[in-house]
Amino acid sequence: MSPKHFLNFTNLSKKDLINIIDRGLELKTMVSKPKSMEGKILGLLFEKPSTRTRISFEAGMQRLGGSALFLSGQELQMSRGEPISDTAKVMSSMLDAIVIRTDSQENLEMFTANSSVPVISGLSDVYHPCQIMADLMTFKEVNKNLNIEKVCWIGDGNNVCHSYMEAAQILEFQLSIFCPKGHEPNSKILESSKNFVTISSTKEEALSDANIVTTDVWTSMNSAKQSKEKELIFKDFFVDSSAMNFSKEGSIFLHCLPAHRGEEVSFEMLDHPSSKVWMQAENRMHVQEAILEYLLLD
Ligand code: CP
Ligand code: NVA
Repeated sequence: MSPKHFLNFTNLSKKDLINIIDRGLELKTMVSKPKSMEGKILGLLFEKPSTRTRISFEAGMQRLGGSALFLSGQELQMSRGEPISDTAKVMSSMLDAIVIRTDSQENLEMFTANSSVPVISGLSDVYHPCQIMADLMTFKEVNKNLNIEKVCWIGDGNNVCHSYMEAAQILEFQLSIFCPKGHEPNSKILESSKNFVTISSTKEEALSDANIVTTDVWTSMNSAKQSKEKELIFKDFFVDSSAMNFSKEGSIFLHCLPAHRGEEVSFEMLDHPSSKVWMQAENRMHVQEAILEYLLLD
């Protein structure tokens, strides 16, 4: 039987998504976590830098009694041309699950097709599903429910935005995206999520009645170096405390981090009363522990 993977939300049911979030919340309350990963080894193959994703998977795996092995793409024979399919066959013969961070969704899918163990996306150029699981868990932790009516996304229509678009379809919330022209999300993902996603023409419209306000860097790791021209294009696409006045009462501000204060987010915003970004970052670990259990124990 082929293993379950976690590359995006395409094959994830609403029930499974909710169960993972609830398990993440449950694991968070435990002083001593169950040793559910005992004897298991998680490989992390990263071709891009990371603070949260790497630490949360390594720490989470250890807290559940397993271990983790960090592998930089630069140090593997892949960097000298060994095919990704061969790398996948070899790695999956010795590890129990593998997290990959890459700027090629195509390579991630090629790796997965050749892996005999579960593969988890730790971010690609197209999706960042683990991040959105932590965002949803954070909403539930704050509100004690997952009754999200509207999410407002301000900025680049990037990988994190695409995963929000997929989540909108599963949980049936509205996602309003306020992005510069030419920086809209992927058109195929936009087409498949069109019943739940709108591109707003004003910031106020995007923010209006939103339960979650969120943003991300103007320039992602897979993009060309940020230019002065780009900074001009993006200059109005930021969140500050005044933006929160347009969203719904009790709304929360989230940011996947790392943040660029003074660009997509104002200096005060990360520590504004509505900001839950530090809770959100910690929740990466708890929700990913639940994802590991979902993939490896069922
Ligand atoms: N949010 C997130 O994935 O952070 P890192 O790039 O630090 O892993
Ligand atoms: N969109 C960002 C997210 C970083 C966690 C990037 O891809 O660089």
